[in-house]
Amino acid sequence: MNTHKLKYTAILLSVLFIGAVLFGFAAINSTTSWTQVWSVFGILIVGAILFNLWLFRLIEQREDEVHRRSEQMAALHTAALTLTKEIDLATVLQSVVDEARTLVKAQYGALGVLEKESNYIDQFIVSGITPQQRAVLGTPPRGHGLLGALIKTGEPIRVPKISEDPRSVGFPPNHPPMRSLLGVPIAFQGEILGDLYLTDKLNPAGKVTAFSEQDQQLLEMFATQAAIAIKNAQFHRQSQQLTLLQERDRFGMDLHDGIIQSIYGVGLSLESALHSFEEDPEDAKRRVHHSIESLNQAIRDLRAYILDLRPRQMGSEGLMSGLNRLITEFRANTLATVQLTGTDHELQELPQPRSMALFHIGQEALANIAKHARATQVDISLWCTDERVLMEIRDNGKGFEMEKMNATIGHGLANMQTRARSVGGDVDISSVVGEGTTVLAWVPRGSRG
Ligand SMILES: Nc1ncnc2c1ncn2[C@@H]1O[C@H](COP(=O)(O)OP(=O)(O)OP(=O)(O)O)[C@@H](O)[C@H]1O
Ligand SMILES: [Mg+2]
Repeated sequence: MNTHKLKYTAILLSVLFIGAVLFGFAAINSTTSWTQVWSVFGILIVGAILFNLWLFRLIEQREDEVHRRSEQMAALHTAALTLTKEIDLATVLQSVVDEARTLVKAQYGALGVLEKESNYIDQFIVSGITPQQRAVLGTPPRGHGLLGALIKTGEPIRVPKISEDPRSVGFPPNHPPMRSLLGVPIAFQGEILGDLYLTDKLNPAGKVTAFSEQDQQLLEMFATQAAIAIKNAQFHRQSQQLTLLQERDRFGMDLHDGIIQSIYGVGLSLESALHSFEEDPEDAKRRVHHSIESLNQAIRDLRAYILDLRPRQMGSEGLMSGLNRLITEFRANTLATVQLTGTDHELQELPQPRSMALFHIGQEALANIAKHARATQVDISLWCTDERVLMEIRDNGKGFEMEKMNATIGHGLANMQTRARSVGGDVDISSVVGEGTTVLAWVPRGSRG
């Protein structure tokens, strides 16, 4: 039964009840005249009707209030849901202002994002203003006057008439006139992410009026949701930036360890060709041919890398053949004797990323020997234990001071470590000046690591 029917039923029942009691009493008591009974009946009926009307007016008012509240909650829910659909920070900030404005029925809205150090407004995102209006407005506000009052206190601000408020500093030229203001902070775990400002509340007739306390409560609830959405978008942006940096590091590492080392090898080969031009032109010619071939290979590698963004130098040939290829190149550029020991079949099972890591470590170690060691003997051995695949590259060159290693500007030694650790292994480098350098790298063999 709805309230309307209930009201008339209550009136009818009270009339019937009063009538029954009064007329029943008059029937029993013969001393009371019927005129008296009718007059009392009339008075009681009017009283009962008025009481019922007053009571039901109160009930209807409460009902309206509950209805309005549930409508607001539904609008709040929709607005919050809209925010969760966005992940891009700029879009989230814009939707926060747009949704807030719709939710509280304000003509204009703005979101001020603060600069961390100065607490001045850094970004000012608006809603309800046409691009033309925006264009003639000039620079966005920095946070003086009433906007600043919210920034300073961190407390909501509700002003029925902006022009009459002592904190107001007036509007700049070309600014649309604004009368009422409601502002709330958007905070996440005590950190103010921004301040939300709404101006000119519109009543159902479309007239500008003041914001109510309910509007403020609603906007404060919305600000909590907005804070989560903004923080979420900020985290997303940070993680994207981190991924980008990691990708950049990986590109740098791949280029350094692969293609740059190949080109460096070509440089060494051409240098030797230059020396043997006079005495042994045939050898020089052979070296130039070899350099051209290596440069073409480097171009192919670079192209392959750009196409699938993976270092290709080891190819599908497997670790042993990959190392053998490196050794052939190495022999062409140095006078050192190289010996490789170890068998291939134990390495067949090794997952590609791990053999690739060992290959790159081998490549950098050999490049370092060619560049820095002046060694006459290089020994490379590969062997397996139950848990690990190990590779040792030993040279009898000039060695270097380990303490100074961290201070060097090269990337090679650091890359070796990064590559080994990225697959759960490690690298140990030991060097004695005048005796040589040993690079010992290992990667896990089975799935346990
Ligand atoms: N086998 C080695 N023999 C002698 N010195 C070495 C050897 N390996 C590394 N070094 C020394 O350690 C330094 C750091 O090596 P690293 O590979 O990190 O850098 P780089 O080779 O100089 O430059 P990059 O590898 O970035 O082209 C080298 O500059 C060199 O002085
Ligand atoms: Mg190096």
